[in-house]
Amino acid sequence: MTAAQRRLINQARRARARAYAPYSGFAVGAALVSKRGRIYTGANVENASYGLTVCAERVAAWKAVTAGERGFKRIAVVADSERLTPPCGTCRQVLWELCGDIEVVLANLKGRSAAHRLRALLPKPFDASLL
Ligand code: THU
Repeated sequence: MTAAQRRLINQARRARARAYAPYSGFAVGAALVSKRGRIYTGANVENASYGLTVCAERVAAWKAVTAGERGFKRIAVVADSERLTPPCGTCRQVLWELCGDIEVVLANLKGRSAAHRLRALLPKPFDASLL
């Protein structure tokens, strides 16, 4: 991991502490960095009506976009899982729409990490180029 990747993982780890996950107990943190270097964090926010839960990645993406950001470099996702936690299918689609082929850095609390391109996690994406 580069210093920039490690910094973003640390931001995601800190954001994870603010997750609202009373139903699953599975806290996730995300940190999204824009092309101009601003970092937006998110954590999962659950609901008693389970399907209304929003993942950490989308919270970070919506905060960034509604702050006026366009154009992103990388997102880090941190969870306390042995196997690294990748974004769910819904988040992959939302990230593709708003961020394009960014780098997705996954990490757990034991110091394990890996980096992927979003394109590799979402082959044959549906997007505006098909409309
Ligand atoms: N979750 C995330 O926030 N991001 C992921 O990448 C995977 C899943 C959340 C949703 C839910 O609150 C909890 O983890 C268990 O699925």
